[in-house]
Formats: sequence, structure tokens, C-alpha cells
Amino acid sequence: MRNWKNISGGLALALVMVIGFVFAVDKESQPVRNKIVINADLGKDTIDKNIYGHFSEHLGRCIYGGFWVGEESPIKNTRGIRDDVVEALKKTKIAVLRWPGGCFADEYHWKDGIGPSEERPNMVNTHWGRVTENNHFGTHEFLDLCEQLGCEPYICGNVGSGTVQEMQEWIEYMTFDGQSPMADLRRKNGREEPWELKFFGIGNENWGCGGNMTPEHYANLYRRYQTYVRNFSKNRIYKIACGSYGENYNWTDVLMREAERMMSGLSFHYYIVPGGWGNKNSATKFEEKDWFETLQKALFLDELITRHSAIIDRYDPDKRVGMIVDEWGTWYEVEPGTNPSFLYQQNSLRDAVVAGVVLNIFNSHCERVKMANLAQTINVLQSMILTEGEKMIVTPTYHVFDMYQVHQDATLLPVDLECVQYEHEGNRIPSLSVSASLDRDGKIHVSLCNLDPNHSADVILEFRGVNLKNVKGRILTAEQMTAHNSFANPENIKPSAFNSVQLKKGMIVTTLPSKSVVVLEVT
Ligand code: AHR
Repeated sequence: MRNWKNISGGLALALVMVIGFVFAVDKESQPVRNKIVINADLGKDTIDKNIYGHFSEHLGRCIYGGFWVGEESPIKNTRGIRDDVVEALKKTKIAVLRWPGGCFADEYHWKDGIGPSEERPNMVNTHWGRVTENNHFGTHEFLDLCEQLGCEPYICGNVGSGTVQEMQEWIEYMTFDGQSPMADLRRKNGREEPWELKFFGIGNENWGCGGNMTPEHYANLYRRYQTYVRNFSKNRIYKIACGSYGENYNWTDVLMREAERMMSGLSFHYYIVPGGWGNKNSATKFEEKDWFETLQKALFLDELITRHSAIIDRYDPDKRVGMIVDEWGTWYEVEPGTNPSFLYQQNSLRDAVVAGVVLNIFNSHCERVKMANLAQTINVLQSMILTEGEKMIVTPTYHVFDMYQVHQDATLLPVDLECVQYEHEGNRIPSLSVSASLDRDGKIHVSLCNLDPNHSADVILEFRGVNLKNVKGRILTAEQMTAHNSFANPENIKPSAFNSVQLKKGMIVTTLPSKSVVVLEVT
């Protein structure tokens, strides 16, 4: 009996040690139940670089003070456009920029924004604080900005309060290379050659701020307005119809039924609003429940895209029509002491993880999603950049776009993800998000997010159809989930080299720290 006790005691101890070894790799890590299989030889769809696009509206300090300071400004600029901002965005390979709104687009009259700036009329920006808009930033300035950035312009036309003629003339003004009243006016205003303009939106949120229309009414207007959006010379316009928001599936259905043949793309908007519209979160003072809710809402985008895509598939099984997610991002309470209509919010590690998760979702739907535009580039909502007079800082979201630029125009690689759940107060979401692609130089990039703010994750990545030689990575993380950059501490959170990754027997073994975004380069 005594012997048996000793033996069983020894066995029990050995068992505990084995379990301890398998299940407790380090004090904050979870057991290795995270496995990712990357099918490196099965890629077929291209991740359109325009998924890495942005949105800029005449709202708060996005245009004025953000992009535009005017030629007379002491802030370094080229023809009125801030040099520091252009340099920072070029570094991320900004693909496309949407303008002038947003809600502003449906009350914008483009002819007010051309010609000598001192002769341009003022208007009231009724949506965004009823401030006076002096129209100093107009068509020429926007297209100059896109040329400086090296990105595609995406212009949104006015259906809500504009005429068909106004829209027709805008296209003629920008893109006609012959002699015509509008092309001649463009020349008179200093631009000889037409611009190339691919992306043109016919209205914005016409179910809401863009005219409160029913889908049937808008579909008819869409058919009419788009008729006069002409292809002049070599210019070919990709026409984007106003799409739905969130779970409004009927809007998608009606638009596809009534106008599918006449559109190249259908837009879709989604904002992540933890707490809901009446009780929005602070951008930097939040708790784990807010972190969890924000990421849960970010993940919900996958279901929304899947369900809207299924409707689009019924009318367009060949996937000709692109889903254009031309507004997305987090929406919090404005920073204390700022104008509530200016939607100025800070940006933390939480936003970085949201960006990582959402971009992974877009990549995974790249056979249908052809463009996405984060709202909004500077000083508004989930910004890439914040400015304060001559000072400029980049946000954690900026760093994710910078790290993820490797996916632009690469081939999506199918992945299988098996991971532990991140549980909070009885609710669960997957703890990991992943996307992988193969670029033209034969490099594989894997973007990984650990959504769990408390536990690191031991992960095994298995690659099928390829022999691995090297792996290196970059990581964005911080001690606090509320970590952010400020004008006093602009580099509080920034990417660094990621060393916790090894090649072992043709697989990659890594430990992702809690609340982190990692991009691996595998050759
Ligand atoms: O991005 C802010 C606003 O959100 C846009 O103007 C509008 O389209 C959306 O409701």
C-alpha cells in the first residue's frame, strides 16, 4: 500500500509536470492550441491595393489645417498642401483618396471651388458645425494633392442637392481633352491637360444625409445621373452607386435589382461605435469591456460583408461589381474641449488592433471588396495623422497601414485558423485574426493580430506548398491597451523588430504578445 502510494504520488507529480510543461509555456501565455495553415500554392485572388485607401471630407480639421494650409502659411507646403502630411502618407503607399465627403458631398457645388481663391464664394458647412467654408480647397487642389501623394483620386458627386447638369459638367471639366465650355474653363483656371479620373461616386448615404431617399427612389436617380457621367477621350470612369450601411440588406437588394448593369461598384459603410451612438466611448479612457466590445463589432464586419456579398452574388455571380467600403472606422466621443461637430478623436492601440482585424477581413473578401477608405485621414474619427498647428504626429492606426502595405496587389493565400477564444464576462470572440499573401517577388507576408489584452499566444504556422528559408517580422504593441501618441510623446507607440519567431522543421513557431499586431515576412 505504501509502495503504491509512493508510485501513484510519483505518477501524479510527473503528470502535473507534463501538464504544466504543455499548458503553461510562460506566465501569461495560453496553451498551444493556435494553429494556422497557410496554403501557399492555392492563391488565386488579388488583394486590390485600393483596399488600403482613405477618405477626406470637408469636416472639422481634415482638409483645413490637416491637408491644406495655403501657400502663405509658415508651415512647409507645396502649393498650399502640407509637405509633412504628404511625406507621411506616401510612406504607407496610400492607394486612393476619397473626397469631398461624406455628407458634405451632397451639398457641395464644385463651381464654387474653382478659379482665383479670393473670388470663390463662401458657403455654410451645414452638416459639420455650420462653419464657413471658403472653398479655397477645391477640384484643382484636391487633384494636385492626389498627384503629390501618387494616389488615385475618388470623387463623390452631389445627388442630394445638385443637378444632373452640374455633375455632367464636373466630369467634362476634369476629363475632357477637346474644346468645350468646361474644358476651356479648366484651361482658363491653369490646367491645360485633363486629369485622369477613374473613381466617381454618384451620391453619398442617400438613404440619410444625402437626401433621405428610399432605395427605389435613389436607384432611379442613380440610373439617371450616371447616364451623364461620360467617358471622355481615354478616361474610363468606374461608377460607384451609393450602397448600404450596416444591416440594411434591402438597400443592397434593390440597388442590385434596379441598377446592377449601370454600376461598376456599390458602396458600403460601417462604423464601429462601442457603447452605441447615445453613449460613445472615450478614445483613450476605456476599460476591458470596451476593448472587447470594439473588437467584437470590428469582427462583425465579416458577417456583414458575407451577407451583403451573398445578395450581390444573386445578381452578379461573376463578381463584376466591386464592393466599395468607402467609409469605415471607429467612432468615439470627441476629445474633451473640442467642437463636437468636428469629430476629433485620439487613436490608441485599440484602434491599431481594429485596423489590423478589419484589413485582414477585407483581404479575405478581396474577390468582392475592391476598395476601402478609412474615415478619415487627418484629425477626424479613426485618423492616420493628427496635427496641431505646425506639429504633426502619426497614430497607431497609421503604423498598421504602414506595416500592412505589403499586402497591396499581392495574391491572397487561403488560410485555416484554429485558435483559442478570448473570453470576457461570458462572451467570446476568436483571440486571433490572420491574413496571408504572396507578393510579386515571391515573398509571403502574414499579418497577425492577438486580440486578447491579457494573454500572449503561442502559435504554430504551417505552410503548404513552399519551402521556408527565412522569417522576420515587425510588431506593434504596448503595455497599456489605451497607449497612444500625443504631441508631447509622439513616439510612445511605434513598430519594432519582432524577434519571438523561429523556423522549426518547415514550420514557424511564434509567441504573439497580448494586444499586438505583427507582420511576418517569409521567404
Ligand atoms: O465620416 C463622417 C460621416 O459619416 C460622413 O460624412 C457620412 O457619410 C457618414 O455618416
